[in-house]
Amino acid sequence: MIGDILPAAVRWSQSFTDRGDVELFPEERAVIANAVAKRQAEFTTVRACAREALAELGHAPSPLIPGTRGAPGWPDGVAGSMTHCLGYRAAVVGHAHEIAAVGIDAEPLQPLPDGVLEAISRPEERTVLAALTHSGAASPIAWDRVLFSIKESIYKAWYPVTGKPLDFPEASVRISPDGTFTARLLVPAPQLDGRPLTGFDGRWTTGNGLVVTSIVVQRAG
Ligand SMILES: CC(C)(COP(=O)(O)OP(=O)(O)OC[C@H]1O[C@@H](n2cnc3c(N)ncnc32)[C@H](O)[C@@H]1OP(=O)(O)O)[C@@H](O)C(=O)NCCC(=O)NCCS
Repeated sequence: MIGDILPAAVRWSQSFTDRGDVELFPEERAVIANAVAKRQAEFTTVRACAREALAELGHAPSPLIPGTRGAPGWPDGVAGSMTHCLGYRAAVVGHAHEIAAVGIDAEPLQPLPDGVLEAISRPEERTVLAALTHSGAASPIAWDRVLFSIKESIYKAWYPVTGKPLDFPEASVRISPDGTFTARLLVPAPQLDGRPLTGFDGRWTTGNGLVVTSIVVQRAG
């Protein structure tokens, strides 16, 4: 699925089931030694995906350890992102000299629990969601979950390049029904690839009961 919403400059791998064919490094095993079975399974399977995607970039397997605030520690020269949710795991990587930032997220395509939309969204975003909901699409979409997933992708693209937290209302997202979105950052941000970082453009898709969202910032030139 995720391959449908990515540029050719990145490599990716996904899995709809958990995999037992990957050997974790001791440092990785230590991270999940005391975790519940679900966390062990998602951590292991998404690393199988990441190793496959990294192999396409020419990288041999190496430990992929969560760093500060959980951001994945990629090999030198790599930018990437990982996601896992019930029934889906995926990893996307690119050469850092070509790719400045990556953020991906997957979620079950179910409406958010009561009260969550109000906590994660801005008034103008809710206006667009209401218009999308009433736009008469043949099969209704849980647009609130699409917005949530987009905001998770924003954070995963944002954090590794800024090292700063970003609250949900600090980005204003406009979703288009054509499978794209734009996000405007409402907080000061550093430059990215020599340009002011004012927002992110991304893509979204649905299928298999999931929404998957992606941001890939390609370097100029
Ligand atoms: C970090 C966060 C985005 C993860 O999203 P999630 O839907 O819970 O989890 P997913 O399974 O999709 O993704 C988990 C993966 O994200 C990656 N990740 C975790 N923290 C990260 C960070 N700070 N930066 C980049 N990637 C991160 C990791 O690879 C992790 O997998 P791993 O622990 O197996 O290595 C979320 O828990 C969070 O803290 N959100 C609050 C901040 C936010 O979203 N702000 C919105 C800004 S508009």
